[in-house]
Amino acid sequence: MSREEEMKKLEEGIKECRRCELWKTRTKPVAGEGSLSAKLMLVGEAPGYYEDLKGIPFVGKAGKVLDELLGSVGLGRSDVYIANVLKCRPPGNRNPVTEELKACTPYLDAQIEIIEPAVIATLGNFSLGYIFDKFGLKKDKISKLHGKVFKVSTIAGITKIIPLYHPAVATYNPGMKGVLTDDFKVLARCF
Ligand code: URA
Repeated sequence: MSREEEMKKLEEGIKECRRCELWKTRTKPVAGEGSLSAKLMLVGEAPGYYEDLKGIPFVGKAGKVLDELLGSVGLGRSDVYIANVLKCRPPGNRNPVTEELKACTPYLDAQIEIIEPAVIATLGNFSLGYIFDKFGLKKDKISKLHGKVFKVSTIAGITKIIPLYHPAVATYNPGMKGVLTDDFKVLARCF
C-alpha cells in the first residue's frame, strides 16, 4: 500500500473509533493534517473546541501561534505533518486520562510509521511524555528539555526528537513567544 492509502485507511478507522469514551462527546475526530512525505512531524496534545468542530488540528488560538512560529522559519502547514496524541477532544479540554492514552496512541504510532519523519517536535507536556517513553528517552521538566535535540534509532534510521513548549503558552504568557521562536530556529536547522 502507498503512504496515501495507508493514511486513508487509518483515518477511516479513526472516524469510526469507539476505543474509549470520547467518541460520545466528540463532534469530529481530528486525525492529522499535512504532507505525508514531511521531514518534520509536530505532535500536540488533543483537539480543542474549534478542532473538534472542524476536524482539523490547531485551528484555534494556539493554531494561530503555531502558524506564526512555522512562518518565522519559512515553513507552512503543507511542509509538515501535524498530529495529536489524542484524536478526540476531552470534554472541557481536560487532561487526557490513562485509558484514553492507551486506546488512542496506537494511531499516533501508526502515523509515525507511515510518515517516517526525520524530526518529531513535541508540543507540550503530554506529547513530550508519550514520545519520550515511546523512544526510551529520560523525561525531565519541559523547562529543562525544550529546544534540545535528542537522537533515537528507529527502523527508519536516526530520528531527532525536539521537545517544545505548547504554542498555547504564548496566548496566556506572551513572554514565552520569544522562547518558542528561538526553539523553532533550532528545529528548522535540524532537517
Ligand atoms: N492543542 C493541541 O494540542 N492540539 C490541537 O489540535 C489544538 C490545540
